[in-house]
Amino acid sequence: MSGLFSPFTLKDVTLRNRIAVPPMCQYSAEDGLSNEWHRVHYASLARGGAGLVIVEATAVAPEGRITPGCLGIWNDEQAEKLAIIARDIKAAGAVPGIQIAHAGRKASANRPWEGDDHIAKTDPRGWETLSPSATAFGANLPQVPHEMTLEEIARVRDDFAVAAQRARDAGFEWLELHFAHGYLAQSFFSVHANQRQDQYGGDFEGRSRFLLETLAAVRTQWPDNLPLTARFGVIEYDGRDEETLTEAITLTKKFREGGLDLLSVSIGFSTPDANIPWGPAFLAPVAERVRREADIPVASAWGIDAPLIANEAVEKGQLDLVMVGKAHLANPNWSYQAARALKKEQPSWVLPAPYAHWLERYRVSE
Ligand SMILES: Cc1cc2nc3c(=O)[nH]c(=O)nc-3n(C[C@H](O)[C@H](O)[C@H](O)COP(=O)(O)O)c2cc1C
Repeated sequence: MSGLFSPFTLKDVTLRNRIAVPPMCQYSAEDGLSNEWHRVHYASLARGGAGLVIVEATAVAPEGRITPGCLGIWNDEQAEKLAIIARDIKAAGAVPGIQIAHAGRKASANRPWEGDDHIAKTDPRGWETLSPSATAFGANLPQVPHEMTLEEIARVRDDFAVAAQRARDAGFEWLELHFAHGYLAQSFFSVHANQRQDQYGGDFEGRSRFLLETLAAVRTQWPDNLPLTARFGVIEYDGRDEETLTEAITLTKKFREGGLDLLSVSIGFSTPDANIPWGPAFLAPVAERVRREADIPVASAWGIDAPLIANEAVEKGQLDLVMVGKAHLANPNWSYQAARALKKEQPSWVLPAPYAHWLERYRVSE
């Protein structure tokens, strides 16, 4: 039986355990460029023992950033700096992953601690947002986006493919397409955002088209021997859950047939009028259903940060990988904490020798 500390192999990549750090925006970049903050942040997470560290949502085009502080991978300089981060993560024994993204109608926002709302139209720091239809998200993000033309749809799809190529050349070994959280790809899939009448809207097939075409375009650039994954909001908690989930599972099967290796099961966040049942590991049963019905390995996050619960999710076969987010911000060495909680024989050796050697001999208090 696999547990949290069993290795996990996908394609030619083996993770040392089932713990993954999910993408978490740092809002600390300028012109999409990573800097010393990102280097230290990602290296310390990787040293903390997780098997996989996924670099935050990294925009495939300038207008695809959530905030002016978000990372980008639309030019070579950005890719060169990201290569240092990929190298640091790998040197610490974790697999370097990256999430490539386009924020759609949720772009052009202020950093969370500076308001988390759309940048005012009059503010030169902001920009026009893109979406399948000219429909605003609402709430804190009220600006009406520009409805994408067919040329713009093709351009962003190709931006994803070029970004994948850059990520590969930068040394990342795990790619995650951001198809979740109300950003551009999720907006194409969701009836909350997509009211198009053409081939990119309407029925299930139309609303799936952008996602499938983007996956196909990326597939041509990303190596066959490395994991190609996506994060996808399979449920909105908007009262239409069974319908959305059934459609999402059908689409996930098409993703698998199109060369996707794993789905990170998440929430749609396409409407502010959702009623999300927050609680420990609340999404794990949904992920398990996707895993079973779509026959694809899954990861998931959202409150799976108690070691016993995380371990149980793997043991019960709900999840192949557990994404532990905010708990890693509180403690980059969360894996060590988990190894201790699970009474692993030598928990300290989850960490590198300069830490492990001492923790082996001298126990620190919790
Ligand atoms: C600061 C922060 C930034 C985040 N940025 C991203 C992101 O870039 N991409 C993404 O898919 N999810 C993002 N998320 C969601 C996390 O990946 C994760 O799903 C969420 O924190 C729930 O997991 P947790 O309960 O273990 O924290 C972010 C969350 C936080 C707290």
